[in-house]
Amino acid sequence: MAALQMNISCLIFLQVLLLLLSLFAQTNAQGLKVGFYDNTCPKAEGIVKKSVLDAIKKDRTIGAPLLRMFFHDCFVRGCEGSVLLELKNKKDEKNAPPNLSLRGFEIIDNVKEAVEKECPGVVSCSDVLALVARDAVVALNGPSWGVETGRRDGRVTNINEARANLPSPFDNITSLITQFRSKGLDKKDLVVLSGPDSYVARVWVTKLYAAEATCGGNEERGGAEAGLIGVNGLRSKADRRRDGVKRKAQPHCTSWFLNWASDQMWNPTDTGRHLGSRGGHTVGNGHCPLITNRLYNFTGKGDSDPNLDTEYAANLRGRCKPTDTTTALEMDPGSFKTFDESYFKLVSQRRGFFQSDAALLDNQETKSYVLKQTKSYGSTFFKDFGVSMVKMGRIGVLTGRAGEVRKKCRMVN
Ligand code: HEM
Ligand SMILES: *[C@@H]1O[C@H](CO)[C@@H](O)[C@H](O)[C@H]1NC(C)=O
Ligand SMILES: *[C@@H]1O[C@H](CO)[C@@H](O)[C@H](O)[C@H]1NC(C)=O
Ligand SMILES: *[C@@H]1O[C@H](CO)[C@@H](O)[C@H](O)[C@H]1NC(C)=O
Repeated sequence: MAALQMNISCLIFLQVLLLLLSLFAQTNAQGLKVGFYDNTCPKAEGIVKKSVLDAIKKDRTIGAPLLRMFFHDCFVRGCEGSVLLELKNKKDEKNAPPNLSLRGFEIIDNVKEAVEKECPGVVSCSDVLALVARDAVVALNGPSWGVETGRRDGRVTNINEARANLPSPFDNITSLITQFRSKGLDKKDLVVLSGPDSYVARVWVTKLYAAEATCGGNEERGGAEAGLIGVNGLRSKADRRRDGVKRKAQPHCTSWFLNWASDQMWNPTDTGRHLGSRGGHTVGNGHCPLITNRLYNFTGKGDSDPNLDTEYAANLRGRCKPTDTTTALEMDPGSFKTFDESYFKLVSQRRGFFQSDAALLDNQETKSYVLKQTKSYGSTFFKDFGVSMVKMGRIGVLTGRAGEVRKKCRMVN
């Protein structure tokens, strides 16, 4: 009897121990939770949201880079704010080549300053980045999600680590999958996180169609769309053929359209900066040198990338000469239909901008996600995006007593 009792209490003891261990392991691996600052700085999230909304109201184009910044932070040393640190010798992540056009650092400074005023030394820079990324997506009419917080900031930044950890737009699918897996992200996360612009595209196109009513009414889509043709021949011939509707550029629409577009979020004459119609992977910019290899002499036989739609390739060659290193392109292949069906549709039509976009068709799982979202007009994309962003936000975090809460995001305390 005594032996049995002994066994039972032993068992209970073991079970409690196991439970404790697993709890410990969980908080250790994460230590993150939604609402981490509810007691220590209850106004923090509201302050961040307001600052981001204000910033994006002033400059709609800043939303995309703010999202991208979080990705660049998380993939290098984990989400611990190292992307913000600056070294005197400039050997920091910011100065690594993959930073191409990373911007919005002064907005992070402003947000952090506002939060510091409310509760000094409490909210980390890495959490600011995570909250800002979510609020930027929301401000661009994308989905919202509960952001886990409780990260602490690292003290190290290293230019070579950015080079080594950020995927390149020339990467093939095998390499992308491996890189994401090494960060604890799976194939679904890869394909979901690659399409952050599609929701913006959808919203934008809705507005565009609404705007048509104002210019030229609905005669053969003569309004905004004709404006677009006039601006830079955005719609390709094939797209027009496919629609079976003839459209002519209308000069008055073009100027009206330019005014309208600049009021919105898009400057169509600055081909790099529009938020809406870009399908290639993201909201915003891509530069010529990142794709010239796809357009010229891809395999050394004077050819272009066979995974790139030929008409789209020809169009891009018109805008990116082989030696052009500076032009920023909008990655819109020029079809209205594809706008609203967005990134996934573009990729499925072999119009993904980067090789890394096109590569999503080279794996059964990522391909089937692309096709599913294309067919269902992105039915689960919003929800999926939030889930994957939370997962990305857990990469390599510092919690508990690790790291520090930086006072200023550009330097360690
Ligand atoms: C899958 C691997 C990825 C590769 C190879 C990649 C590569 C790139 C490249 C080359 C650019 C253009 C830079 C330029 O020419 O200025 C870009 C832009 C961008 N990327 Fe990614 N990226 C990847 C994943 C992601 C993820 C996971 C996110 C966020 C969830 C993201 C968000 C963005 C955004 C928002 C932009 C536009 C930035 C702007 O307009 O300034 N990217 N990316
Ligand atoms: C990005 O890196 C280049 C050097 O590779 C540097 O000149 C530039 O200032 C950096 N951009 C930012 C925003 O830090
Ligand atoms: C993909 O890229 C990796 C790394 O650059 C390379 O080793 C591999 O051979 C490539 N795979 C294919 C199928 O092209
Ligand atoms: C294309 O690449 C091949 C092999 O690298 C090279 O011999 C040839 O000169 C290139 N052609 C052009 C037009 O650059």
